[in-house]
Order: sequence, then C-alpha cells, then structure tokens
Amino acid sequence: MVDIHSHVLWGMDDGAPTIEVSLEMLRQAAASGTTDIVATPHSNGEFEYQPALIDERIAELTKLTGGVPRLHRGCDLHLSFDNISEAIENPSKFAICGGRYVLVECSDLHISGSMDKVLDQLMGVDLVPIVTHPERNPILQKELNRLDAWVDLGCLVQVTALSVLGGFGKRAETTAHALLAKGEVHVIASDAHDPVHRHPRLDEAFAAISTQYGQDIAQMLLVDNPGRIIRGQYVSAEKWQRAQPGKWWQFWRREDR
Ligand SMILES: [Fe+2]
Repeated sequence: MVDIHSHVLWGMDDGAPTIEVSLEMLRQAAASGTTDIVATPHSNGEFEYQPALIDERIAELTKLTGGVPRLHRGCDLHLSFDNISEAIENPSKFAICGGRYVLVECSDLHISGSMDKVLDQLMGVDLVPIVTHPERNPILQKELNRLDAWVDLGCLVQVTALSVLGGFGKRAETTAHALLAKGEVHVIASDAHDPVHRHPRLDEAFAAISTQYGQDIAQMLLVDNPGRIIRGQYVSAEKWQRAQPGKWWQFWRREDR
C-alpha cells in the first residue's frame, strides 16, 4: 500500500516529536504492508514548510531503515492566501514528489465561496489538488455536496483511514461512508501523527473497505491510485459507482492519458 499523507518526520510540525518516534511509525507502516509514504508536514500559520530540511530528514531516515518503506516529500497545504499565491508561483514546491499532485486542507472555520476559483487557479498551473479528509471538516460534513463541484473540476478526494473505522467519531465515520457510497473518494491515507492514536497502519482500513465495498475498491484507493499519484501519473477524478445492488462493483474510469 501507498500512504500519501503522513506527519512521520520528526520535529517539523505536530507529528512525530523525535527521530525514535519517526522510526517506530515507519516500522509499523512497513510491518503492516505499506511500501511508500509521502512525508507531508503542515504548511500553515503555525508551521513553516522547509523543503530542504524535509529532504535531509528523509535521507537520514532512509539510511536508518534501508528504504523500507520508501519515503517521499509532500506537504499538507493549508489553503491560506500566502500558500495559494506561493503554490501558483512555484507549483512544484508543495507538490508530492515535486510533481502534479498537492494535498490541500480546507479550514474548519470558513470555506470561502470562491473556493472553486482557488482550486481552478491551482489547476491552471498544472497542479491537481487532493482535498484532504473532508469527512472530518465540520463545514463539509454539513455541506457534502460542495465537493461535487470540486471533483467536477478534476480535484481528487482523500479520506483518512481511521475515519472509515470510526476512529474520528460517528460523524466522520458516517460522512466517510457517505462519500464512499457516492464513489467520491479517490485515495485513502493515514494522516498519521504518532504510533498510537493516529497511527500509520493502513491494513485495517484495507480490510474494512474490502469487506464493505469489494477488494477492487480497496486496491484502487490504497494501492493503485496513491501509487499513480507518487509517480505523477493520471488518476481519474470521476466517481465510481455500484452497477446493481448485489452485483460486483464497476468503475466508470477514463483510459489512462
Ligand atoms: Fe495532515
């Protein structure tokens, strides 16, 4: 499995506080079947994004783990005015592996009516925004249909593994499954912050999604789509849908570009 959202790097934000904790998180991830992790420190009013330091820490951890799992650079980009301007000016700065995909996090307090325009601007510089954990956002929980317009633009949606399992409470769990039922989830990631409460394991979510939606869906959301994202390959934003109750799940997906 491939995890595109993780606060595994120590001392960068509110994730791992020490290198020992980083190593424990990496050990857990590898032992539970994760092959690749994108380290995505926050860039917000509280934490400054430091690409050179991130690369240094990735190199240091890679030396200690032998590259199991593989580590990549990304960013958990809060959609502030400054961040948006900087991303438009320098699109690769916050992007996963310096490519075309960027994690974007909406504020819990206010989501501007011009959000569609902001996302469109990012797409205008060849970035594909991946909206992180809408199921945990109190505004989006009430206005889930706002995501439809963003997905229609070509944005992707990331749901957090623990939300699917109920680890963020009933409201987040219900919303995560509402999105899954609509086929409006493109990737599941851990958003891990520590080895215990917000841990890096993806295997339990893989099992739960396999049982409830089919193994093909779990494979798409935890292996294939995130794998394509780290390689900078095209991922369709189109919703997938269940063909008929009781029948196998089907996808309406474009051919690869
Ligand atoms: Fe995060």
